[in-house]
Amino acid sequence: IIQMPDIDASLVEVTKTNSPKDKLPPSKLRFGHTFTDHMLTIPWSSSSGWGTPEIKPYAKLELDPSSTVFHYAFCLFEGMKAYRNEDGTVRLFRPDMNMARMNRSASRIALPQFDGKQLEELIKKLVVLDSEWIPKEKGYSLYIRPTLIGTQNALGVNPSSDALLFVICSPVGPYYASGFKPVQLLATTKFVRAAPGGTGGYKLGANYAPGVVPQAEAAKEGYSQNLWLLGEEHALTEVGTMNLFVAFKKPDGSVELVTPPLDDVVLPGVTRDSALQLARAHESGELVIPGLPEKMTVSERKLIMADLVEAEKNGTLLEVFGTGTAAIVSAVDKIGYEGRDINIPTGPDGLGAIAKGILDRITAIQTGEIEHPWSVIA
Ligand code: COI
Repeated sequence: IIQMPDIDASLVEVTKTNSPKDKLPPSKLRFGHTFTDHMLTIPWSSSSGWGTPEIKPYAKLELDPSSTVFHYAFCLFEGMKAYRNEDGTVRLFRPDMNMARMNRSASRIALPQFDGKQLEELIKKLVVLDSEWIPKEKGYSLYIRPTLIGTQNALGVNPSSDALLFVICSPVGPYYASGFKPVQLLATTKFVRAAPGGTGGYKLGANYAPGVVPQAEAAKEGYSQNLWLLGEEHALTEVGTMNLFVAFKKPDGSVELVTPPLDDVVLPGVTRDSALQLARAHESGELVIPGLPEKMTVSERKLIMADLVEAEKNGTLLEVFGTGTAAIVSAVDKIGYEGRDINIPTGPDGLGAIAKGILDRITAIQTGEIEHPWSVIA
């Protein structure tokens, strides 16, 4: 066995830009359209392992046209966010979760794995260097995009003998063009996002491009995203940029908050996990989250479209919302399904009480307003 060197954050070479770019006012930011002054790159090869990490001015990559990423989608990525408060403290939210998921994704497409702690240290260095770019306004943050691609110059379909890990950062506000307003979903039966045994549970680039034609078709009918279903029963899976939560009123007056279980068609979202943990802490009485019903149960269980249709009919469909790093917590007020719309109530400011309670708690932790071990100082 050859001992492969892992990423060594202490070797990092830092080159600062001589020509910092102008920054847009937050209100002008479109999600993922503006990038900061610096980036991180780390090359890998099967013969020598991870090379020297470099933090350097944001620049184009130079890649051979035969690189494996261009032909067979050797590409995976993460989405993370950094926050900055008035005193200048920069915080990351649960970066260990992203590092673990990135390694899981890498294992699925034979790209190299790494020590997540080392990459986390390098990401901290990068965001601190570019911290001036982090908007302080409520609902705004720095979106961090760690990416790993195959760079071997060869057209055979094999594990890539070369790879490049890079990290870029983008100051962002709301993910949806509608701002923080509720979104409309089209539950599609014409296309599927993922199937059992496939790659839907991994954060691979290849999971996303096939979703844009269905999304464009949904947009033509006035819906912003697709709700991906699976199987004859039309089981709910996820939205593609969000995991999904549904709240039902039970006959005894209590509330059940449900999200589909993690199987290999649902992406294990960091915000999903955070929302679940907070809701469960509220359920057990360990934590009281304002806005959440006093009697609430939390379940990860299979949900089918017939459950939603039925609940709408009975007046027991209370809320639907999505969670994601980019989307944070976004209310859903309409789901198109089989030629009609399921209408879902939302609160006065466009968010139901449960979505708002969870959003407020998560953002308070992310910004450091509430001290919590999930928020890590960079
Ligand atoms: C995220 O929430 O970070 C995502 O990756 C969703 C999307 C922008 C692809």
